[in-house]
Amino acid sequence: MNSSNTQAALYNDTVVRQFSIMAVVWGVVGMLVGVVIAAQLAWPELNLGIPWLSYGRLRPLHTNAVIFAFGGCALFATSYYVVQRTCQVRLFAGPLAAFTFWGWQLVILAAAISLPLGYTTGKEYAELEWPIDILITLVWVSYAIVFFGTVGIRKVRHIYVANWFYGAFIIAVAILHLVNSAEVPAGFMKSYSAYAGVQDAMVQWWYGHNAVGFFLTAGFLGMMYYFIPKQAGRPVYSYRLSIVHFWALIFTYMWAGPHHLHYTALPDWTQSVGMVFSLILLAPSWGGMINGIMTLSGAWHKLRDDPVLRFLIVSLSFYGMSTFEGPMMSIKTVNALSHYTDWTVGHVHSGALGWVGLISMGSLYYLIPRLFGKKNMYSVKAIEVHFWTATIGIVLYIAAMWIAGVMQGLMWRAINADGTLTYTFVEGVKATFPFYVIRVTGGLLYLGGMIVMLWNTWMTAISGRSVDTPVPAVVAHA
Ligand code: HEM
Ligand code: HEM
Repeated sequence: MNSSNTQAALYNDTVVRQFSIMAVVWGVVGMLVGVVIAAQLAWPELNLGIPWLSYGRLRPLHTNAVIFAFGGCALFATSYYVVQRTCQVRLFAGPLAAFTFWGWQLVILAAAISLPLGYTTGKEYAELEWPIDILITLVWVSYAIVFFGTVGIRKVRHIYVANWFYGAFIIAVAILHLVNSAEVPAGFMKSYSAYAGVQDAMVQWWYGHNAVGFFLTAGFLGMMYYFIPKQAGRPVYSYRLSIVHFWALIFTYMWAGPHHLHYTALPDWTQSVGMVFSLILLAPSWGGMINGIMTLSGAWHKLRDDPVLRFLIVSLSFYGMSTFEGPMMSIKTVNALSHYTDWTVGHVHSGALGWVGLISMGSLYYLIPRLFGKKNMYSVKAIEVHFWTATIGIVLYIAAMWIAGVMQGLMWRAINADGTLTYTFVEGVKATFPFYVIRVTGGLLYLGGMIVMLWNTWMTAISGRSVDTPVPAVVAHA
């Protein structure tokens, strides 16, 4: 039996393949909705007067699709792949793993229907109504059983660090979801939060920030610790640092939520605690980034001719950028300028497009050919094209939002000698227009790259050969 047949017999890759394909499909859908709402901000008539195409309904559709459908499927796929390889056993409870796939797709479908129809709890990133929340809970508990069950039956004594990050992501998201979605049903698809007033706000942003920390960070760090060493063909730079990184990161993230509520009714000392923990967060974030990048130490030349490795490493530079920017924005006086402006949106997308997007794409490019028993993606040139369109798209998007955001903040606070406002609000909106158009251009490029990836995935699945020479740095399985 050759190595790929042995792997097929040992591991359950069906569910990994299903999640990988859907990550690419939902990536295209979620980013398309992102481009539509970006265009609506520049040209509001584009909502065509149809309620379910209105900005207010499509915006949560975008965030749910990119975070939970695209990001979620990439996390399921990679965690199932990694936990099997690093524990050297087949996935625990196969039928339950299949349930997580179909259950998660049902959650996504329910979101795609209910959000445009206007059903929402009104809590950002937790908009889905209570029947869908229950389904999410069932899927997530099953996910935990499959993942930790696999760790439990492992044949290798050591639990590799990537599994620690995936495990923390699974546990933390379960706790966040259960606490923040506590609600009183008031009919089918209608509920009220179990919390009120400022407590509700605090619980919501404890959830919101840790959704960033665990859904958009910890799980993707799991990808970093497996796929970068694999693609580079080198061990992690410092295993000791990876353990320090893990504990420091998960401890610190939990306390930083109040930076979303500066200058609100939240007690002042709570806001300061949030700010201090956000500043501390810079250290573990950069420790992790350095650990990932330095894995390439002595082999930098591989970046020149391996576009997959480039996706993975450039994602880390965006991770470093957004985790430097975040602590700065959490300083109360800086936040007084940045809050409510497009600076926040620029920060979000340097993390989302640069870090979450690129690391997922790099990991999926590693996985997809292996899952279809191919040596490589159908076209390596297409990976190269994707890399450059995505990178240029990100730079256009975030540079436009930074300039727009700082400009808005300064215009809103400008006052004349007699104390009146220098600019009316609409003057700020007019000044922002060109930057919104630049963002649409950046978004189109990023989406274009994702469509190229979808084509390349399809061709890899159906073709029997690779049109390009294989990527040199590809290494064998564990
Ligand atoms: C083609 C790519 C994308 C485009 C054009 C795009 C565009 C947008 C737009 C126009 C908004 C609304 C901003 C506002 O309300 O002022 C938004 C919000 C958001 N997007 Fe994207 N997006 C893209 C990809 C992504 C990806 C891949 C992710 C995550 C992995 C993401 C995560 C978010 C989040 C979290 C928000 C809410 C931000 C906030 O509340 O401050 N986006 N996006
Ligand atoms: C050290 C790490 C980080 C810190 C301390 C941090 C801090 C902040 C701060 C201060 C805000 C603005 C809050 C406001 O004015 O409303 C913010 C918003 C946000 N950040 Fe970060 N950030 C970090 C990393 C990241 C990363 C890596 C991502 C994405 C992958 C991200 C995603 C977001 C999102 C989605 C929001 C907008 C939330 C909303 O209002 O809807 N952050 N962050």
